[in-house]
Amino acid sequence: MARLKIAVLISGRGSNLQALIDSCAQPDFPAEITLVMANRADAAGLQRAADAGIPTQVIPHKNYPDRETFDSAMTAALEQAGVGLVCLAGFMRLLTPGFVEHWRDRLINIHPSLLPSFPGLHTHERALAQGVRFGGCTVHFVRAEMDNGPIIVQAAVPVLPNDDADTLAARVLEAEHRAYPLALRLVAEGRVNVIGERTEVSGAPGHLSTQLNPSD
Ligand code: GAR
Repeated sequence: MARLKIAVLISGRGSNLQALIDSCAQPDFPAEITLVMANRADAAGLQRAADAGIPTQVIPHKNYPDRETFDSAMTAALEQAGVGLVCLAGFMRLLTPGFVEHWRDRLINIHPSLLPSFPGLHTHERALAQGVRFGGCTVHFVRAEMDNGPIIVQAAVPVLPNDDADTLAARVLEAEHRAYPLALRLVAEGRVNVIGERTEVSGAPGHLSTQLNPSD
């Protein structure tokens, strides 16, 4: 079966990008990264893509007068690359409703909380302030509202008594690196159906469960 062509959009470090690169390097993985795009030339993840021989493109948001023209430039480049799915991986720009609608159900994101709790920035600080017992991450289809949309995979991690935002973030990040490749695999295999604001995942055997608990 032909592998699904995907683009990964980043703004920074790119550790989730690396997890996707590593997964796509497996011969049986159903997706391939054909483009890594960043809104900042100094995004460290660009080097990860270059090291893997993946084409990169920088579209600096500062070069555009407004979000609409920036998002249109991204869509043009993504269509030029012929991608069937766009993966946000630490892409820290709000997207316009027009962009989200154009890529509806072909646009996924990872967020470092168990959505719908703690969308937005400073996720871990807010989770700790609330005294939650579990943190985690969510891979979901993107809707116009930030960090919102049909959930594909969630991974839970414990919050430990002495955690600060950094230690919790590091534990969640390890979970992210498992959850994102799993979600991408399920989407690329065509198993994920969006039904209203939920998804149903068909035929997922045990090892493809959409619930991960990385401390197991
Ligand atoms: C990740 O923790 C990701 O979940 C988060 O940014 C980080 C990027 O790290 N994304 C969001 O907060 C989106 N709302 P990375 O560049 O090493 O993948």
